[in-house]
Amino acid sequence: MSVHSKLYEGKAKILYTTDDPQVLLADFKDDATAFNAQKRGSIVGKGKINCSISTQLFKQLEEYGIKTHFIDSPSQNQMRVKSVKILPLEVVVRNIAAGSLCQQTGLAVGTVLQQPLVEFYYKNDQLGDPLLTRDRLLLLKLATAEQVDAITNLALQINEFLSGFWQQCSITLVDFKLEFGLDSKQQILLADEISPDTCRLWDSAEADPNRRVMDKDRFRRDLGNVEDAYQEVLQRVLQVVEIK
Ligand code: C5P
Repeated sequence: MSVHSKLYEGKAKILYTTDDPQVLLADFKDDATAFNAQKRGSIVGKGKINCSISTQLFKQLEEYGIKTHFIDSPSQNQMRVKSVKILPLEVVVRNIAAGSLCQQTGLAVGTVLQQPLVEFYYKNDQLGDPLLTRDRLLLLKLATAEQVDAITNLALQINEFLSGFWQQCSITLVDFKLEFGLDSKQQILLADEISPDTCRLWDSAEADPNRRVMDKDRFRRDLGNVEDAYQEVLQRVLQVVEIK
């Protein structure tokens, strides 16, 4: 496969076109940003770790019956993916209150939600990725009502599977962000990545609120040992996948 030109450079990945117009190559970077890129840094080895974790999770989700953009991973920090039109939405699923949910509602961090909460945010850096209502989403024509329903169902199914998977890793899935895209047949595919950059992951065996954090909050909140935490997440994923 020959790589053509750079199609898009995001905060964590670079996308290249390939000789097949249906296939893109995603290059995972070590760069880390937070708070709409106001905080910038680098996490050594993050590209390889996140690509490896995402690869395993996409494979597992495909086996579970979820359609994703994943094709294969030709090297540790590269993933071949189906070319899709990304919907400008960040779909967040929450099982436990943390982050912006606590800041915006006053719920205490760690409050277990009675049922998973699915939220849609407008993927728009200039506007600061605002939380959308269903009506605003339809008003802005960011997706159709059918697509919103389908994505909500997919997000809940993915949460069901991932919660169980992370539990096998002795990790509690607090919340996570998904992105979806449309292929040439208008099929909805899970896209982007699933990694400690996009999930809140708490070590189930650790009660200390800082020590239990195994995700990007270590970078956001300057908790230290970011690389070690990401590496530990990867090791646990690989262990569970090998046992399966
Ligand atoms: O900040 P907030 O609490 O809304 O984040 C919810 C979840 O979505 C977290 O797991 C966070 O890592 C993820 N997220 C993300 N990319 C964003 C915003 C949030 O991966 N731009």
